[in-house]
Amino acid sequence: ASILVLHGPNLNLLGTREPGVYGATTLNDINQRLSEICQQQGHHLLSLQSNAEYELIDRVHEARSEGVDFIIFNPAAFTHTSVALRDALLAVGIPFIEVHISNVYRREEFRHTSYFSDIAEGVICGLGAEGYELALTAALTRCSQ
Ligand code: DQA
Repeated sequence: ASILVLHGPNLNLLGTREPGVYGATTLNDINQRLSEICQQQGHHLLSLQSNAEYELIDRVHEARSEGVDFIIFNPAAFTHTSVALRDALLAVGIPFIEVHISNVYRREEFRHTSYFSDIAEGVICGLGAEGYELALTAALTRCSQ
């Protein structure tokens, strides 16, 4: 299967960004680990981090023509703001899992609402970088069903 992992704004700073909240794992570590798991099981991982909403939207559109089977998505701050990204995911109809490193429900009120959770296959939050691996395991199970 072909899996796309999408990382939203500021996640390029993982490792140095508020380590008390987001941990010490870098984005590169996360992508490497996911890529390893995919390779071991004969799957293919694609990834993109962007700070620009339109780039994430364009990537979601491309995913359809590329035949991406499943998306793992941490929309970061766009979680709480982006109707446009929600509409992109609805438009392509590719199943996705929403991931957050931090437990957004333990944080500010504005982080308690998501434009994605009700259209996601599932949501993982608060488990740190491990959340991405859990999401990948779930995605691969769904792809082989
Ligand atoms: C985040 C949580 C969001 O509220 C925040 O804006 C982020 C990261 C997380 O992974 O915990 O940038 O999505």
